[in-house]
Order: sequence, then structure tokens, then C-alpha cells
Amino acid sequence: MSIFVPLCGKTEDMFWLYSRGHTVVGVDIAAIGLEQFLNGHNINFSKQKLEKIDGTLYTSEDGRLRLYACDLFKMTNEIESGFMGVYDRMSFAAININDRKKYIELVLSMCAPDCRFLLETVTYQSADYSPPPHSLEDSMVKEYFEGRCSFRKLDSIDALLNENRERIGAKKQDHLRDNLKAFDMRYNLFLLTCK
Ligand SMILES: C[S@@+](CC[C@H](N)C(=O)[O-])C[C@H]1O[C@@H](n2cnc3c(N)ncnc32)[C@H](O)[C@@H]1O
Repeated sequence: MSIFVPLCGKTEDMFWLYSRGHTVVGVDIAAIGLEQFLNGHNINFSKQKLEKIDGTLYTSEDGRLRLYACDLFKMTNEIESGFMGVYDRMSFAAININDRKKYIELVLSMCAPDCRFLLETVTYQSADYSPPPHSLEDSMVKEYFEGRCSFRKLDSIDALLNENRERIGAKKQDHLRDNLKAFDMRYNLFLLTCK
């Protein structure tokens, strides 16, 4: 299955997907993170300058992992398309609010019909926490994707509860509690199926 990971950073989830045999295409503006990801997993790759847009493409030897170091909004469905899956962990939540509609149009234009889109968002209250990521209520997610995708909430966890410390990561949870003074913080997971 070919899976798109917009604003991928160097998330380990890409390696998990790749090592299970999927084709993984990531886009992130920060080339250094992509190189760290590839080197960190001992993946041999080639590097080429993109022709139509400003950026660099890193391709694994087997071609199943393609990482684009470029501005996501410069990508087009002429460059990559036909994805059967989108893995969006805090990417839609991270972009500027004004770019949300553009983001949805772009990402969905790169997907095949019936593509499944896993979307993780966050909701929180905080005096000190400043986006990104932006807090996104479920109703807003539904509204943004209305008419384009069917919508199912899979999970929601309290990011600050001790019992979720391992899932969130101890260091990250401490950071949220102590530095950002976030409260009522929840991570939410949705499955969107493109129409
Ligand atoms: C919140 S992180 C995303 C985290 C990632 N999805 C994960 O699971 O770890 C945001 C990432 O988006 C990238 N980014 C921000 N704006 C971008 C843009 N316009 N085009 C491409 N990447 C962008 C940043 O370099 C950063 O790595």
C-alpha cells in the first residue's frame, strides 16, 4: 500500500510502515531531519534535486521510501498521487489555520478513491501553550472534511494522565505539564475515508 506522510519530520512511524512493506512518501521542509531519519535507520539512499519545484528528493535503494525536502504547498499530484493511505500525526494540526483548506485540497488530490486517512489531532486549554499544534475540536475536523470523507473517531486519550505516560512519552508529558501549563489536553485519532 502506498502511504503519504505530509509534514513527516523524522517520525519513527515512517520506518514502522516502511519495514512492513509499504511504500512511504514523506514531505518535510527540513532536509536535515530527513537525512537524520535515513542515516539513523541505515537506509541507503540517493539524493536528487527536484526539477519542477525547489527541493530535494531522497529515495531509498528499493524506491519504496521517498522523502521530499520541500514546501508541502509546492507539491502537486503530478509529482506524487494515487495514495491509498495518509498518515497525519499532528500535521493538519500544525499548519497555519489559513492554510487548512489548501492543505485538504492538496492532500486529497494526491489520494486514490477510498483512500484511508489517519488523522491525529489535539485539543487543549492553556494559558501559556501557543500553537502549533492548534487545538482542533472534533466538530471542526468534521466540518473541514465534510463532503470529502466519511468520518469516524477511533480513540481519544488524556495526554496528561499518568496511565498514558508511556504512550505520550515521559519527557513529553513532563514538558506539557510543567512548561506549557496545558490542561484538558487530549490526543484524538480519526479515520477518514475519502469519497
Ligand atoms: C508538528 S511537526 C509534524 C510532526 C510529524 N508529523 C510527526 O509525527 O512527528 C511539523 C513538521 O512540519 C514541517 N513543516 C512545517 N511547515 C511545512 C511546510 N510548509 N512544508 C513542509 N514541511 C513543513 C516542520 O519542518 C516539522 O518537521
